[in-house]
Amino acid sequence: MPEIRPKVYVTRRLPQEGLDLLAASCDVEVNPEDRPLTRAELLAAVADAEGVIGLLTERIDAAFLDAAPKLRGYANYAVGFDNIDVAEATRRGIPVSNTPDVLTTATAELAWTLLLAAARRVVETDAVMRSGSWTGWGPLQFLGADVTGRTLGLVGAGRIGTAMARMSRGFDMPVLYTSSSGRRNEILERELKAELVPFEELLARSDFVSVHTPLTPSTRHLFRAETLRLMKPTAILVNTARGPVVKEDDLAAALRQGVIAGAGLDVYENEPRLAQGLAELKNVVLLPHVGSATFAARRDMALLAARNLLAMLLGGTPPTCLNPDVLR
Ligand code: GLV
Ligand code: GLV
Repeated sequence: MPEIRPKVYVTRRLPQEGLDLLAASCDVEVNPEDRPLTRAELLAAVADAEGVIGLLTERIDAAFLDAAPKLRGYANYAVGFDNIDVAEATRRGIPVSNTPDVLTTATAELAWTLLLAAARRVVETDAVMRSGSWTGWGPLQFLGADVTGRTLGLVGAGRIGTAMARMSRGFDMPVLYTSSSGRRNEILERELKAELVPFEELLARSDFVSVHTPLTPSTRHLFRAETLRLMKPTAILVNTARGPVVKEDDLAAALRQGVIAGAGLDVYENEPRLAQGLAELKNVVLLPHVGSATFAARRDMALLAARNLLAMLLGGTPPTCLNPDVLR
């Protein structure tokens, strides 16, 4: 009997380890161009696919599922899965997965990178050096925010928020957190004496506010003019989660008017575009959605996505399936 090799489509080139793992038992086709597919190209490319690995920038919705009638599994190359209509996939009996855990440390490290860079004005002052306009050391030059002993507020304390909080130990920071489920994070409470507080209280008490909540209808525009006003004027906002959690026009205005002191952003409301005026501000650090962009995290995401898809197509338990009930 000929070996049955399921057809898999991968919407963008991924680290080779993941592609090799798939290729051992599937016929794999990869988007040959190093650019995102247009929606029309994506829908055409998946017409014969039994399995797909896709990106957070692609919508996996009813129209996508209609365009892929042979689909038996979809693996998201991301931990966030607001791009997937999980209910629709479940209704059609199609398992879908994401890539938690393997990018937790990398993303928490990037949140710290943004926090420290915004606190100490790293990007603004790097630009001064490059422009040749530095006049030499001065007692009042480029003063920034203190970090040690200041309060860290986590909006959402899941895997990444917890990792970020644990990394704060060297900075001796009181830790506050919110929980949309209302569930306590016992690890943080035990290890760091972290305090579960209402959102408004977290905003009022924190010197650094870091966003670690998924994007859902209830977290969209959680940060907007009215809530930004509840933060300290000396506070810094860090977002490595999803752009639309912050109303970016309101944030740009708040940064311009000194409502808050600074921000460090890795994600945007309308990627790859920036809100009007944001790029002109000195008190914001802007990174191109690179939270998981380390060699190890991206390799391990590729391996995890491949393992999920292989289990969906060949049998077995996908390690991080979002709708495991469809497999029963
Ligand atoms: C990246 O944003 C991810 O969700 O993995
Ligand atoms: C989000 O899914 C996280 O890992 O915190």
